[in-house]
Amino acid sequence: MNGSAAELGALSVYPTADGSFSLHSDHFGEAFHNSAGALNEARAKFVQPAELQRFGKGSALKILDVCLGLGYNTAAVLEALPAAGPAVQWWGLELDRRPLEQALDQASFQSLWSAPVLARLEAIRDHGGWQEPNNQGIQLWGDARAMLREIPEPDRFDLVLLDAFSPQRCPELWSEEFLGALAHRLAPQGRLLTYSRSAAVRASLKRAGLSLFSLLPAPGERVGWSSGTLATPADSGCPQDGPVWRPLSAMEWEHLQTRAAVPFRDPYGNATAEVILERRRVEQEQCGYEATNAWQRRWRKDSPS
Ligand SMILES: C[S@@+](CC[C@H](N)C(=O)[O-])C[C@H]1O[C@@H](n2cnc3c(N)ncnc32)[C@H](O)[C@@H]1O
Repeated sequence: MNGSAAELGALSVYPTADGSFSLHSDHFGEAFHNSAGALNEARAKFVQPAELQRFGKGSALKILDVCLGLGYNTAAVLEALPAAGPAVQWWGLELDRRPLEQALDQASFQSLWSAPVLARLEAIRDHGGWQEPNNQGIQLWGDARAMLREIPEPDRFDLVLLDAFSPQRCPELWSEEFLGALAHRLAPQGRLLTYSRSAAVRASLKRAGLSLFSLLPAPGERVGWSSGTLATPADSGCPQDGPVWRPLSAMEWEHLQTRAAVPFRDPYGNATAEVILERRRVEQEQCGYEATNAWQRRWRKDSPS
């Protein structure tokens, strides 16, 4: 996939409950944000669990946005940093330039952000990033699997914002190998944040050596058994219970023993979604793990969703 508009299909406007502008992708068959709202989601799943107060004046903050899309996650994080905050080094990975262009055409989207944050989004669109004293952003347009390799190895990320379409729609960005590469690039106290609570994703992150935590529901979101995942190196010092996360429950750990936990495999980093899904279907048939619906039945009586 080369990211051309013809290949990526139409994008249509998708209204959300908090009034924030969002899109739906024909090609991926999925909305960019949940119906509770793009801005709500960015704050609850990415800004709050990042605990940006950890990065004060004089410190450095390295951020990787995997799937920039309309730019909500990056903009919400930059907006939440204190004025005299850390020196920021930001990278964005994204295949399609249109979501950010379309968002920036909306006055309602522009009005969400302060002038400096809006200027950075515009600089990403117009110049592929921004350069300010103590604050740099580099946007890498293309397949995130290939573009991640363009970021110099010594750079380790304090925050990875992983916001790809769901694993069934975009398995290439949830593979054992891609998640392993992201985990490998985390700083010692780094945090990988995602809305996904998928057993396959969590099991891959765990095998990559990360500790897992479950995100609490965001405001306006249906209360389910988890709203996402915070993954961090095992000795990162991240507290077990945080303002917006908790340890995985027994139910969630058992989920990782079911067929749902069979990973998405993409050993060469270039397989199509169809190939990855078919490979996983075959592996699931042969794995001998508990059927996921048996796990669901066992926990239904205790589960709120
Ligand atoms: C759920 S949306 C991201 C929403 C975004 N974080 C935001 O705040 O608006 C997923 C994005 O992944 C991008 N994408 C899909 N496949 C990709 C790939 N292989 N590499 C990079 N980006 C990809 C899509 O173009 C889309 O913008």
